Amino acid sequence: MKKYFVIGNPIDHSFSPKVHNFWIKQNNLKAIYEKIKLEENEIQSFISEIKEQKIAGCNVTVPFKKKVIPFLDQLSLEAEKTQSVNTIVYDNGNLIGHNTDIVGFEKAIKNLNFNINLKRVLILGAGGVVPSIVFALNNMGVKEITITNRTKEKAENLKKLFDNLKVEDWGNLPDFDVIINATSLGLNNEIMNLEFSNEVKNKLFYDVIYNPSETNFLKKGKKLGNMIENGKKMFVYQASEAFKIWHKKEPNVNSDIFKLLDND
Ligand code: ATR
Repeated sequence: MKKYFVIGNPIDHSFSPKVHNFWIKQNNLKAIYEKIKLEENEIQSFISEIKEQKIAGCNVTVPFKKKVIPFLDQLSLEAEKTQSVNTIVYDNGNLIGHNTDIVGFEKAIKNLNFNINLKRVLILGAGGVVPSIVFALNNMGVKEITITNRTKEKAENLKKLFDNLKVEDWGNLPDFDVIINATSLGLNNEIMNLEFSNEVKNKLFYDVIYNPSETNFLKKGKKLGNMIENGKKMFVYQASEAFKIWHKKEPNVNSDIFKLLDND
């Protein structure tokens, strides 16, 4: 029986076991997927168990996506550029770090009836998931990317990874065609104190959060007459890419899987 995990802290909220075990069963694989909460000083020994093949592979979530990197042998190009790993695979004696959040976000956007090419994008937040979103947006040929974060220094630091970013003070809202909430504000139904004018219409409001399925940010966007999308598809597509890497099989992404995640 092959064992897979998602590691993070906190980890209780993770839907990864639900999704992966569903596909494992559907594909009749001899495997199991569990979540495990680790402390930072436990990462190295956990990863060494993958090297010894006591554990087949793992996903990595907040706050360890960068912290696992020193313990790996190789990174995919995307993981290297974003300094973010969410999937670890054992390959011929080597541990390889991948970043499937990028494909997850790209597929989620391409699924929408919204052409993001040459659009102006405003990202709220500068946390762990933002480099992956920026990488994907650059792939999709957006016109400009502006980041605004409560702690401005963290937004400025992202310029070291991507030299095409603009940074705005938190609270300033430059014109945009697409606005992405990549902060954790909304996970507990917090209100985001951003004032949008009534002219903000026919834009795309995207929230990385998918539980609750409609954050106050998305509710506000919808009320003003904008298209809205939560992070559910991104989550499912990043999981399906990880599944493909480990099991060399394309999992079924359909309404059953999205229903699994309907929690509210
Ligand atoms: P990390 O910052 O450790 O990568 P994260 O969950 O990936 O964690 O990111 C949380 C994001 O939500 C950050 O951009 C954070 O802003 P700071 O960098 O200033 O901490 C943002 N965030 C969390 N609570 C917030 C709040 N009350 N108001 C504004 N932004 C908030």
